[in-house]
Amino acid sequence: MNIIVTQTPVEAGIAGAAVIADLIRTNRRAVLGLATGSSPLPVYEALEQLNLDFTQVQGFALDEYVGLPDGDLRSYATVIRTEVVERLGLRPERVHLPRSCSAEQDDGAAYETAIARAGGIDLQLLGIGSNGHIGFNEPGSSFDSRTRVLTLADQTRSDNARFFDSLEDVPHKAISQGLATIFEARHLLLIAHGIDKSAAISRALRGPITESFPASILQRHGSVTIVLDTAAATDLMLRPSGAQGGL
Ligand code: GLP
Repeated sequence: MNIIVTQTPVEAGIAGAAVIADLIRTNRRAVLGLATGSSPLPVYEALEQLNLDFTQVQGFALDEYVGLPDGDLRSYATVIRTEVVERLGLRPERVHLPRSCSAEQDDGAAYETAIARAGGIDLQLLGIGSNGHIGFNEPGSSFDSRTRVLTLADQTRSDNARFFDSLEDVPHKAISQGLATIFEARHLLLIAHGIDKSAAISRALRGPITESFPASILQRHGSVTIVLDTAAATDLMLRPSGAQGGL
C-alpha cells in the first residue's frame, strides 16, 4: 500500500490525478471506476489541467441514490456528467451508471455484467465515509457483496444532508458497487481530506479487517494508493503500522 500525504486537498488532487494520468498514458482505453462525493473533485480538477485524451476511456460510476428524479443536481449522474464527462472529455456513451428506479427494481446484476464485458475496472477511485463506507457499502456489508440496492445508514444520510435542503430530502436507498466488485478492480485509489476523515482513515488502514468497517477491506488488496491531506492523516500518524484494534 502506497500512502501519500500532502499539505492541502488541492495537492492531494494533483497527486491522485498523477496516478490516473500514469494509467491513461500507458493505456488510453483504460476502464476507470468513478467516485463522486466531495473528495474526488480536486482529482478531476487536476486531471483537467493535464489535457489527456479520455475519448477511448470507459467509466463505471461507483454508486447512485435511488429515487432522485432524472437531472436532479444532487444525483451522482449529474455530478459524473458535469465533473467528469464534460470536464475531462469522456464520451458519454462510454460512461455507465448503476441504475435503479425504485428500491424494488435492482439492476445490479446487469451492471456487473457490463463491468465484466469491459474487461473489469483498471483503477477504482474511492472516497470514504466517516463510518467507513466505500461506495455506499455501509457497515455490515458483506465482503462478497455485488452491485445492489441498499439502505443508507443514519450517519451517511446525516453526513450527506449538506448537499440537500434538509435531512428529510436525503434518499433512504442507494445502489452501489459491492465490496467484491470494488475489490476486483486492479488498482484502488482512495482520496480523503479533512479532519473529519482522520479517524476513519486510521481505522481503515490500521484497524482490524472486518465487515463492520467496510474500508478495512483495502488492507487485503495488493495494489492500493491512499492520498491524504495532513488533516486526514492526523490519526494515522499516531498509529504505527502493525498496530491493531478498534478505535
Ligand atoms: C458518499 C459516497 C461515497 C463517498 C463518501 C464520502 O456518501 N457514496 O462514494 O466516497 O460518501 O463523501 P465525501 O467525499 O463527500 O466526504
